[in-house]
This record gives sequence, structure tokens and C-alpha cells, in this order.
Amino acid sequence: MPAVNGPATDADLDTLLADIDAARSQGLAAIAAALSTDELAQVESGLFGRKSALGPIKQALGSLAPDQRAGVGRALNEAQQELRTAHAQASDELAAVARREQLQREWLDLTETPPGPERGHLHLVTQTTERLEDVFVGMGFTVSEGPQAETDWYNFEALNLPAAHPARSMWDTLYLDLGERTELGDGEGGEASNVLLRTHTSPVQIRVMEVQPPPIYTICPGRVFRRDTADASHMPVFHQLEGLVVDRGISFADLAGTLEEFTSAYFGRSISSRLRPSYFPFTEPSAEFDITCVICEGAGCQTCQRTGWIELGGCGMVHPNVLTNCGIDFEEWTGFAFGFGIDRLALMRHGIDDLRDMYSNDIRFLSQF
Ligand code: PHE
Repeated sequence: MPAVNGPATDADLDTLLADIDAARSQGLAAIAAALSTDELAQVESGLFGRKSALGPIKQALGSLAPDQRAGVGRALNEAQQELRTAHAQASDELAAVARREQLQREWLDLTETPPGPERGHLHLVTQTTERLEDVFVGMGFTVSEGPQAETDWYNFEALNLPAAHPARSMWDTLYLDLGERTELGDGEGGEASNVLLRTHTSPVQIRVMEVQPPPIYTICPGRVFRRDTADASHMPVFHQLEGLVVDRGISFADLAGTLEEFTSAYFGRSISSRLRPSYFPFTEPSAEFDITCVICEGAGCQTCQRTGWIELGGCGMVHPNVLTNCGIDFEEWTGFAFGFGIDRLALMRHGIDDLRDMYSNDIRFLSQF
């Protein structure tokens, strides 16, 4: 740095301008070399202020003649401005990098993923229904379905249960208030004012017999409803599978044989079935059917109250009045019907002790099946 005192020579001015240029390029290089905000802060004092490379030149400015000062001053200002801009830009960029790095470091993965690829599956009741359908289809049955909201005719009357029949108390029924709607049940099907949630799937059998001439071999699985309070063995909504056979020369022995066949196909050969006399308005004679207790396999335990048997459902020979109601000649055709709860069956097979577990939607329960 030449000691300028008084009017400077041209050579002095050239040196000053060259010094400004050198300080500018050195400063820009130092800014570019800073890789962090800390490093940038360290080079900062060398860029601006008295101790910077441009500091002494600024001081020398005072001793220049006014016309010489203008040219050097302009070069000085430009160099300073350039350094400030480059510094501000580098500072922004490095701060952004630092922020990104910090976020990366502090990032926490809060998404919860179950270990391993887990797939859902059908509900136990659906699985059981499908298995039972397979068993019966294998025996030559078809599968029939019908509406869950039924008229009094299909649910009771056609099944030999006229209004005020005392046996209606066997089913705690939920009636529907349809208000103005009359489209359901108009015609031969009954009164729209008497619409209810079906208490069994027997009405599907009536619907089948109405439209299909015998021989009939069909099962009717589906959801049914009763005005029951939920407890370990009751639900207001549950599932039934009923079967119907109408053909020439069908006897009680065919019924017993079909039930025995289905029981061992579903539960295995160690489980068999038996019939006990009972009463249903739509069958005559009627029976209840039991299966060997699946817990003790017939030895007698708490579940079967030491009898070795568990009650599964009802059955019997289709009542002549029911056949007549469906336009089938009972002199020519005879038939049998049976029905049981699908949910209860699944309960027994898997040793579940509370029916409510089936519907609590607890994944720990459901994933076991
Ligand atoms: N429908 C009867 C019920 O729900 C079961 C049953 C079906 C009984 C067929 C006999 C014949 O209780």
C-alpha cells in the first residue's frame, strides 16, 4: 500500500485501484469458500470494517485530491457493494442448508406400521356360512336368499302361524313402522302395515316353494332378528341356516340322515347328532336336534351340563298346511325342514364362550380365525 500524501501520482492511483480489485476478488473467494454459517462469520471481519482489506484504502481516500477521490471512491464502493451482495446471498444459502440439515437430524418417524405384511380376512361368521354352504352344495342343495324385512304372511302366517297363534310368542319380533310406504308386501304377500324384521329364514323357504315346483333341495342362510337382550348366548341380530327338502317319498329317516351327514362333514366323524321330540307350528312331527358336545366329545362336562349333548336347532316334516299355502299338493309331495344358528355353531366349533365377542370388532379376537 503506497503512503499517499498530498496529490497522488497516476502510478499511486493505479496501485490503489489494483489493491481494491485484489481485495474484492480475495473477498469473493473467501465467501465462496465458506461452507457453513460459522465459517462465513469468521471471514466477515476480513471483508468489512476497519480491519478489512479495504479498510486502509478507505483511510487513504481522505488524503487524495477531490478529483482523484471520486474515481477511487467509486471503485471502492462498487467493490464493497459486490462483497455485501455476495455475503448476503451466501449467508441465506448456508442458513437454508443448515435448517435442512437440522430438520433431517430431528425428524421422527411417527407412522405406525404393523410388523410384516398383514392381510385382513373374512369374519368368522362369513367363513362359517361359506363352509356350511360348501357342505350342503356338496350334498346337492342350492343356496336361496330372501329379504330381511318381511311381511307377517311370509314370516308367520304362511308357516301355519295365524295371527294370535300362541306359538308366536316363541319369536320376540321387531315390527317396522313404514309410515306411508306401501310398496312392500302389496298383493298376495300380505299387508304393508305388518312388516317386520324376519325372526328366522323360514320365510325364504316359502318364497322358494311359491315359485319353484318340487323337487326342492335348498338351504337359506342369512341374517335374522329378535327382540333379545345381548348376553353370552343371545344377540338381537344373528345368523341362521335353514334347509328345505320337498320331494316324493321323503321320510323322517332322510331328515335324520341329512343332519348326521352335515354334522360329521362340518365337525368331523367324532361328532354325531340325535333328535328329540319337540314342537314347531310349521313341521309335524317336529324335533330338536342335538350334537355330541364338542368340548368333552360326549363324556359329559360343564358346557353340556353333563349330558354329553348340545342343542343345535329345530327340524321336522313340513306341515301339510305349509305345503298347501304354497300351492304344493301334500298328497303327492312330502318334505323336511331344519334350522340352526350359524353364530352358535361357530362358537361351539372354536370353543368361544361369549357370543358377544363375535361382534365386538376386537382385532385381537377376530385375527384368531
Ligand atoms: N325356524 C325355526 C326357528 O327359527 C327353526 C326350524 C326350522 C324349526 C325348520 C323346524 C324346521 O326357531
